[in-house]
Amino acid sequence: MSNTTFTMIKPDAIEANNHGFILEKILASGFKIIAMKMVLLSKYQAKKFYKIHDGKPFYKDLIDFITRGPVIVAVLNKKNAVEDFRSLIGATDPNKAENGTIRKLFAKSVGENAIHGSDSDDNAKIESSFHFSTNEIFNET
Ligand code: GTP
Ligand code: MG
Repeated sequence: MSNTTFTMIKPDAIEANNHGFILEKILASGFKIIAMKMVLLSKYQAKKFYKIHDGKPFYKDLIDFITRGPVIVAVLNKKNAVEDFRSLIGATDPNKAENGTIRKLFAKSVGENAIHGSDSDDNAKIESSFHFSTNEIFNET
């Protein structure tokens, strides 16, 4: 069990000016932000980040969506971070997400679902180092 995870607030949430509310909810849930920045992903970066979904029917829509405006990427620190953060964001499809979760509150659809959270400790490490160099991440506590 690791104590870090990676998150990305997606373009739909930023367009709707919900990123402040979302960050507030993350912090209020006990996560520390140990790295954060706003970036516009290139198609190349997006394809690399979502390589696992290459070939799926929604792949092109996903790449177009995630590159249509800036995202906020961040590394988060908390005990049991990956699992707790997945619980906080809720199911991929907001219609299936539990009340009070970030996707229930802020996501529009399964495609435009406001936020990403790593699904394993290994992926948290891979995704964090995709966006941040080691010296951009504050020491874990
Ligand atoms: P992430 O935290 O973003 O990785 O979401 P997830 O782990 O809950 O879902 P998954 O990794 O299976 O899918 C990655 C992303 O692809 C989702 O968050 C959606 O943005 C998008 N996606 C997944 N399934 C669909 C779908 O059926 N249609 C569309 N349009 N997009 C989808
Ligand atoms: Mg995923």
